[in-house]
Amino acid sequence: MSVVTVNVPLGDRSYDVRIGPGLLAASGSEIAPLLARPRVAVLTDRNVAKHHLQALQDGLAQAGIQTTSLELPPGESTKGWAGLERAVEWLLSEKIERRDVVVALGGGVIGDLAGFASAILRRGVRFVQIPTSLLAQVDSSVGGKTGINSPSGKNLIGAFHQPSLVLADTDVLETLTPRDFLAGYGEVVKYGLLGDPDFFSWLETNGPALAAGDPVLRTEAVRRSVQMKSDIVARDETEQGDRALLNLGHTFCHALEAATGYSDRLLHGEGVSIGCALAFETSARLGLCSQEDPSRVRVHLKTMGMRTDLADIPGDLPDSETLINLMGQDKKVVDGTLRFIMARGIGQAFVTSEVDLGVVRSVLEDALSRR
Ligand code: GLY
Repeated sequence: MSVVTVNVPLGDRSYDVRIGPGLLAASGSEIAPLLARPRVAVLTDRNVAKHHLQALQDGLAQAGIQTTSLELPPGESTKGWAGLERAVEWLLSEKIERRDVVVALGGGVIGDLAGFASAILRRGVRFVQIPTSLLAQVDSSVGGKTGINSPSGKNLIGAFHQPSLVLADTDVLETLTPRDFLAGYGEVVKYGLLGDPDFFSWLETNGPALAAGDPVLRTEAVRRSVQMKSDIVARDETEQGDRALLNLGHTFCHALEAATGYSDRLLHGEGVSIGCALAFETSARLGLCSQEDPSRVRVHLKTMGMRTDLADIPGDLPDSETLINLMGQDKKVVDGTLRFIMARGIGQAFVTSEVDLGVVRSVLEDALSRR
């Protein structure tokens, strides 16, 4: 099985996303063309380092590239001011210069943090994303959104800084827990739901085998997801319009994440899965799509063993009014108006501010009553 390439066409900031098995071992020859000198700084976390750092160092060494690495604590709390200060000061102490390359080895937390550290270090150095979670491979490593969380909210501090290369090694997905894999799959399904009904049908057919570990299907799912993200980012790099489609399910998701304290009770991708089901239910109640569409979405997510409803979140949840207020904290609020991603059918999402909050409230109240 071979490695496939998706290009993200952004003029002089264009780059390749390489997808397939064996990319950690091949990292030396993949990264060498970017380097002015044979040395890179790797930012990672302790869990990822345990599984993959040695393989990366060996791969780089094969091309004569030396590595220096910093292992940060795993978890969302690393993605804050303190983690950023640590990363940037370490890169400075390692004398990483403007022409050098930083490597982000990890999931979304490490990718976002290392990308932002690279964006501000010496006013910007290049970086390579080596995403190790499914969620990072299909979403956060591509498109140049980098940043950290603030005490005021998630991802509120950051910059657009595109990577110079993304290496999505599908072998590393084997080290994910089933829960983490399925959380990432929530973002994969999102692509079919937002813009590609054929991809959604393909997932209905192939999802179970892909989750069971079929490497060819995994590579194809990552490729199609990244291709769709690349198309959208090329149209709208800084989210003036179409890029907001990538947030299908995320308005509900962000409210649920806030309500559960960004804890292990609900992983981001699980919130996306529930959020997509609720977004389709809202779309059907608004008469935008047929009632069969939300049923079909729920059936696929359930078949995959994913969370689809508020009843699948353990512990207490606040009432519908509080959840709607939490939606109002979302970054997608413009001039105080909530923007939703709704759908006219599977693969036909669009951005709108014209959503009757009474309908959203009834969807949430019905979902809360099923708990
Ligand atoms: N994760 C959404 C985006 O990259 O725009």
